[in-house]
Amino acid sequence: MELVAEQPLILGIETSCDETGVGLVRGTTLLANAVASSVDEHVRFGGVVPEVASRAHLEAIVPTLDRALTDAQVTLDDVDAIAVTAGPGLAGALMVGVSAAKALSIALGKPLYGVNHLVGHVAAEQLENGPLTEPVVALLVSGGHTEILQVTEIANAAELLGQTLDDAAGEAFDKVARLIGLKYPGGPHIQRAAEEGDASSIWFPRGLTSQRDMSRHRYDFSFSGLKTAVARWVETAEREGRSVPVPDVAAAFQEAVADVLTRKAVLACRERDVRTMVLAGGVAANSRIRDLTRERCAEAGIELRQPRLSLCTDNGAMIAALGAAVVEHGLPPSGLEFATDSSLPVTQVVI
Ligand code: KG4
Ligand code: ZN
Repeated sequence: MELVAEQPLILGIETSCDETGVGLVRGTTLLANAVASSVDEHVRFGGVVPEVASRAHLEAIVPTLDRALTDAQVTLDDVDAIAVTAGPGLAGALMVGVSAAKALSIALGKPLYGVNHLVGHVAAEQLENGPLTEPVVALLVSGGHTEILQVTEIANAAELLGQTLDDAAGEAFDKVARLIGLKYPGGPHIQRAAEEGDASSIWFPRGLTSQRDMSRHRYDFSFSGLKTAVARWVETAEREGRSVPVPDVAAAFQEAVADVLTRKAVLACRERDVRTMVLAGGVAANSRIRDLTRERCAEAGIELRQPRLSLCTDNGAMIAALGAAVVEHGLPPSGLEFATDSSLPVTQVVI
C-alpha cells in the first residue's frame, strides 16, 4: 500500500472585523472552524465600532483558539505553520490577531505567514468543494467589502477588477434597514420583509450601470445613490401621508443590489473568459442574491461555487486554507517583523 504523507497542519487566525476566528486545516480538509462574534455588542450603534471590536477580540482570542484545538482534537504542538490576516481590515482589530499569531510563532517555533483577508475568502471555497481550478472570478460581498477579484493562482496572484466606490453592499443593507425601521444587522431583516413584498412595485437605481459609467467603472459598484433614492422615496411617502410599504421597499431595494452585483460579476467572467465564479461574504447569505447569481451563471455557462454560510462569513478556517496553499507553494514565511496593513492590496497575497 502506498503511504501518503500527511499534509501540514495549518492554524489560521482572523480578527479583521467583528469576528474572532480560529481555524485548523490540512490541505483542503477542514478540521475546525471556531468563531466568536461581537455583533451583538454593535447592535445599539447600528454598525461595527472598531474599539469595541478590538476589545472583544482580546477577550475572545484564547477561548476561541482552545475551542478550535478541542474541535480538531489536536494540540498546539501538532501545528506545523500559522497563518494570520495581516489586512485589509480594522487596524486595532487586526493587531490583536497578528500579536497573538506572533506570540504563538515564537512560543512554538513554527513559521508565520501574514496573509490577505480577501484572498482568504476565495480559499475558503476549497474547504467546501475541493481544490479550485484557477482562474476564478470571486464576488465578495459583506458589511466591510464589495469586490470582484480575479484569482489566477490562489497562493500568489490575485487582481482587483472592481470594488465599491462608497458603501459596501452589507452597509447599504444595514443603512436602508434603519431607514425603514428594521433592526441591525439589516440584511436578514430586509430579506425577511422582502419575502412579503413586490420587487417590481418600485424602481430603484442601479449604480454605475449607465453607458458612460460602464466605460470608466465597468466592474465597480456604488450604493450611496441607491440608499439616497430609498430615503427620498420614504420621505415623499411620509410627506404625502401615505404609510410606507416596508416589504415592497425592502424587495425593490434588495432587487437593485442583487441585479447590479450579479450583472457585473457575470460580465467579468464573460469578458475575462473565466468559467468559475466564487460567491462569498456575509451578504452572500441573501437568498435573492444567491438565486439570481445561480440563474445568471447557469445562463452564461459559468460554474458557481459557494461555500456554506459559516465559511462565507469571516472565519479563521479561510485564513488557514490560504495558509495551506501558500505553504504548499513553498513561499517564504513573513517572519516576525511585519506590521498589519489596513488597506493591504489584493495583489499581495502574503505580506
Ligand atoms: O461577512 P459578514 O458576516 O461580516 C463582515 O462584514 O465582516 O457580513 C455582515 C453583513 C452585514 O452588513 C449584514 O447586514 C449582511 O452581511 N447580511 C446580509 C444577510 N445576512 C447578513 N445581507 C443581505 N441578506 C442577508 N440575508
Ligand atoms: Zn471578509
